[in-house]
Amino acid sequence: MKTIHAEIEKLINDQINLELHSANQYLCMASHFIDEELAGIGNFFLIQSQEENMHALKQYNYLHNIGGKFRLGDLKAPDQNFKGDYKSVFEKALELELRVTRSIYNIVDKAQQHKDFATYTFFEWFVTEQVEEESTLRKLIKKLEMIGSNTSALFLFDQELGGRKSGANLA
Ligand SMILES: [Fe+2]
Ligand SMILES: [Fe+2]
Repeated sequence: MKTIHAEIEKLINDQINLELHSANQYLCMASHFIDEELAGIGNFFLIQSQEENMHALKQYNYLHNIGGKFRLGDLKAPDQNFKGDYKSVFEKALELELRVTRSIYNIVDKAQQHKDFATYTFFEWFVTEQVEEESTLRKLIKKLEMIGSNTSALFLFDQELGGRKSGANLA
């Protein structure tokens, strides 16, 4: 017998699909910067991508622990046309994270309504994680604003992001 509420199962599935979409989106952003000879920024987005895959896997394991089943949906192809300046790519990344945050807030809200305290508690970690994700991107966008068209500052920025190790908090 399933103890998981059908709506919660659907929401967690949607969330896993969104994390996988995010992983793919960051993979494309990484490629854009590597192609622009900014491998440090590329490294930043590659690590972002890995983290999104880890989020998906964490939620996937949780879903099975509570008796749910995973369903992969049609993943939308991510945005791959990065016209405009480098800052606009980071702004797109922030938009994506804000969408993820709204989605997680919705899960926490519905979990509370259904008195599903296990799901509520599990997703609290992601609420905190989103604060960090948004904050990092906002700080990097501000830095890029300051850099403007200064190429030597951009070079240093690229070097800084190239030093990011998995899980390390930048900015
Ligand atoms: Fe995520
Ligand atoms: Fe994220």
